[in-house]
Formats: sequence, C-alpha cells, structure tokens
Amino acid sequence: MIKNKIAIIGAGSVGATITYNLSNRGLANEMVLVDIDQARAEAEVLDITQGMSLGSTARLYAGSYQDCGDAEIAIITAGAKQRPDESRVQLMDRNVDLMRSMTGSLMESGFEGVLLVVTNPVDVLTYVAYRESGLPREQVIGSGTVIDSARLRTFLGRHCNINPQNIHGYVIGEHGDTSFPAWSNVTFGGMQVGDFCPDCPRGCSQEDLRSEATRYVRQAAQQIIKAKGSTYYAVAQAVAIITQAVLRDERRILPVTAVVSGFETFREAAFSYPHFIGNKGIVLDAGKRGRLQYDLARDERELLRESIRYIIEN
Ligand code: LAC
Repeated sequence: MIKNKIAIIGAGSVGATITYNLSNRGLANEMVLVDIDQARAEAEVLDITQGMSLGSTARLYAGSYQDCGDAEIAIITAGAKQRPDESRVQLMDRNVDLMRSMTGSLMESGFEGVLLVVTNPVDVLTYVAYRESGLPREQVIGSGTVIDSARLRTFLGRHCNINPQNIHGYVIGEHGDTSFPAWSNVTFGGMQVGDFCPDCPRGCSQEDLRSEATRYVRQAAQQIIKAKGSTYYAVAQAVAIITQAVLRDERRILPVTAVVSGFETFREAAFSYPHFIGNKGIVLDAGKRGRLQYDLARDERELLRESIRYIIEN
C-alpha cells in the first residue's frame, strides 16, 4: 500500500480543525500532530480518533518533529493569532522567529516533502520558511488566498443567487487587507460577469458588485474574529483542498502563496497567484513555471503591484 503521511504542526483551533477535516477525507494512512503542548496535542488526537473509529482507518497520533521526516506534506499552523482590530501583518514580530525555529526543527527530521504554511502573515512566513528550509521553491507554499477566493464565491453566490461552485475567479495578492479579486477573470458558468449582469433581473451595477465583493472578502475574517475570537473552519477546508491536490497529484489550480522571482520588477516576492498544484507542490510543467498566465486588466496589475509592495515593505 502507498503510504501517505501528513504532519500537522500546531494543535490550536486551526491545526486541530485541519486534522479533523483531513481525517474525514481518508486521504492519508498516517497523520501526526505536533505541538509544544504535548498534552493538548494528545487530547485533540484522542477526541478526533474516537470519532474516526466510526469511519476511518488512518493512524493518527501526537508526536514530535522527528516523526515528520517521512511525511509527504507538513502543514505549519502554530503561532500567535490576530486580536480583534489587528491586521495579519501585525503578527509579524511574534511569528517570524517562531516560523524559523519550526522550519529548522522540521528540516532536522530529514523532511523532503511539501511544506504548507498557514500561520499569518502567511505570505511573509512562506518566504521565511522557504529561506530557512532550503527546499526547492516549488515545495514551499502558503494557504494564501485560497480561502479569500472561497469567500468571493460565497459572496457572489449569495448575492447573485447562483451556485457558488459555478463561479470561477481568484482573489490574488496578499492574504490580507490589500487582497482583491482579479475581476476581469471572474466567470459565471464560463461567462464574464460583465456579460452576465445585463441579463440578470437584479439589475445591479457590475462596479458596485466588484467593490462590495472586495470589501466582503477583505473584512470577512475580522467579522468572525470579533464575534468568536478566530477563524478555523473555512481555512481548514482551504488547506484540505490544497493537501488533497498534493497527495492525489490533482494538478488543480489554486491561488496559493508562492515565492516568485522576476515577477514584473520584483526580484523575489511571496504572494498569492493561481498555481497548478500536484504532488511536488507547484507543478512546473504547467503554465508559466507552474503559474497561470492571467491577462490582468491594467488597474488589476496596479493593485497587484501595490499588494506585493505592501507585503515586501511590511
Ligand atoms: C482567515 C485567516 C486564515 O482569513 O487569516 O480566516
């Protein structure tokens, strides 16, 4: 039997929800959950395992970094989380050193798989993990704007009263306050929004729809954090989709954070853009070095440049 092993680092609400989501998908035969609070990791594992006995046969255990060496994918979720009214970027000081040390410990285990960063600010921390790990660029990705793109679908699906799965489009740039939908490429059943709106009985303007969608996506996490302290279900679903694309070599297009060199005038930057994802991370033989070659509108190019600048300067 092929061994698929997933390592999850951080047993907080995000790490535990990811573990739970992945255990329900039956993707891996082995999963290890690592946390400095071993008792917490063990308790989460027990809670999940007792439910798994009703359906899944995977082996899930609480372990240490040494148990991560033979994993196909390691998902790093540990770190300080946003307080209400705090931006993701404000977590930087608290999480950069931690990311260095977690990546270092992971690499000491002999890990050679795909490193998936979830901790915020995810773009900067993906870059930190890339530099620290020494892994090839395509093997270090961040969950990025996969979740923001799901939120875009959620908003448009509700607003326009159509099935969100028939909506295609990506939010790109920073996973944070400067993210934006690449609107010129959003389609409903393959149809551009600008062609769809005139036939729709709702009669709203495309420009209003675009700015409302952007606002919705940018404030989505804050709205949840204010009321219940943190977000974890949607991000777990986004991470599970990325993990599945890796383990099943799906070559799925996902707007993950990737370290890109020579994009426009940027020497090197980590930001979200649609990439093909398969079992070694970014699939280099598809698109332009694994990236979708979008024909962005002029204003979208400028928004993307601003968003990348914001990531680099902060
Ligand atoms: C969110 C966290 C993952 O957007 O940043 O919910």
